[in-house]
Amino acid sequence: MPITTCVFDAYGTLFDVAGAARAAAAEPGGATLAQVWPKLAEDWRRKQLEYTWLRAITRRHADFRVVTSDALDWALEAANLSDAALHKRLMALYDTLPAYPEVPQMLTTLKAQGYATAILSNGSPGMLEAATNSAGIAPTLDAVLSVEDVGVFKPDDRVYAQVADRFGTKPQEVLFVSSNGWDVAGAAGFGFVTAWVNRAGHPVDRLPHRPAHILPDLTPIPSLAGAL
Ligand code: LAC
Repeated sequence: MPITTCVFDAYGTLFDVAGAARAAAAEPGGATLAQVWPKLAEDWRRKQLEYTWLRAITRRHADFRVVTSDALDWALEAANLSDAALHKRLMALYDTLPAYPEVPQMLTTLKAQGYATAILSNGSPGMLEAATNSAGIAPTLDAVLSVEDVGVFKPDDRVYAQVADRFGTKPQEVLFVSSNGWDVAGAAGFGFVTAWVNRAGHPVDRLPHRPAHILPDLTPIPSLAGAL
């Protein structure tokens, strides 16, 4: 069945989640952060994801902004950088994360080819609206779908089911793209055609479903969609 709809994970896939800590380290007063920002960014992201999984399996959902803030608290304390002003600044920068350089052209090409395009993300609607507007990609997206509409985080099937609710698609006509191996596994289990963007050269996750396609970045997505 040909692909009609291309759906993207947001954080880590379209947006570079290390961008907030990197930008704060480059600002005046960022000298201490400049020494440790890569580890801070990694801890922040890892805890953020762990908290989403734990909240999902214990049925204690909270908005992704709360989870992101809690994870940042942990990461700042681990780096001996607990500071309310720095916390506030980093959370603000999360709303203006940079998109990866190939993202605008890739989305524009997909739209020109006639595909429906969407984000499907753990992010709350406010966070996703801010990030897509900041990166200038909102006009090339037909929908920005947030887990807030179902009240549980990925990889719960109810999240992936939102695509059919919005577009009326069968899973086999959806190309789902994520840099998160566990998200790709969840989406593949749901029945989507999947592409894993493996920028870091990581091994494939040992989970029940493997990615159908593995790409180094997002540039090949329009040609991949056309070839399926
Ligand atoms: C998202 C997280 C998984 O955007 O990165 O859903």
